[in-house]
Amino acid sequence: MTKFVITIDGPGGCGKSTVARLLADRLGFTYVDTGAMYRAVTLQVMRANISFEDEERIVQIAKRTPITFKKQDNSVRVFIDSEDITEPIRTPELTSNVKHIAKITRVREVLVNKQKDMAQDGGVVMEGRDIGTVVAPNARFKFFLEADFKERVSRRYKELKTDNPSIDIKDVEKELAERDKSDYLRKTGPLKLAEDALKIDTTHMTIEEVVDYIEDYVMEKYSDKKNLWSA
Ligand code: DC
Repeated sequence: MTKFVITIDGPGGCGKSTVARLLADRLGFTYVDTGAMYRAVTLQVMRANISFEDEERIVQIAKRTPITFKKQDNSVRVFIDSEDITEPIRTPELTSNVKHIAKITRVREVLVNKQKDMAQDGGVVMEGRDIGTVVAPNARFKFFLEADFKERVSRRYKELKTDNPSIDIKDVEKELAERDKSDYLRKTGPLKLAEDALKIDTTHMTIEEVVDYIEDYVMEKYSDKKNLWSA
């Protein structure tokens, strides 16, 4: 029986992590957050106080950092060995540093290979920037989520404000603009719409509506849920 792969790509703040996680839950698939893998390598580089220019050592770190995901209640936790790094990889400082790591071609090769391994048995909803184009070009379903820049800033702002009530929306705007720039212009694995991906503008949609839309689209092709795996 073949389990298939669903890819969800898109820029920061378009809601793809939550959508991918909820979709995976509904379908009984595994959710893979590839951004967390770039973040995990960034964390290790920062901890070791290595310069972002020192590609050789960064590639070694990417190779030997064992990143795993574990489902816990309604969330998916990220681990390096037995250490839960779910929170440390979300700090604003780390978030603004990931771009230095994500642009290193050899780091991308290492992480893309790990992601290919994770996707090879199917039954996976994998989310990131280059999943439909590079990691899983043969995926059965590819989605590309978008939202207006202003709406993405507002979503990020609301998300970050919970932990940091004094956060300035102007800083969020600047950070997201910088991330967009590095995501779209990166030489290797830039963010781009795969030819066969379905683009969804989520500006005026709730998370629930996006998940429903994708689930309906997938299920339409597989009208009998019991046969989901054998198609
Ligand atoms: O999805 P996220 O915001 O957690 O991603 C963190 C960073 O990692 C983001 O700046 C882009 C980068 N990234 C990438 O280059 N390729 C991916 N497949 C996923 C994320």
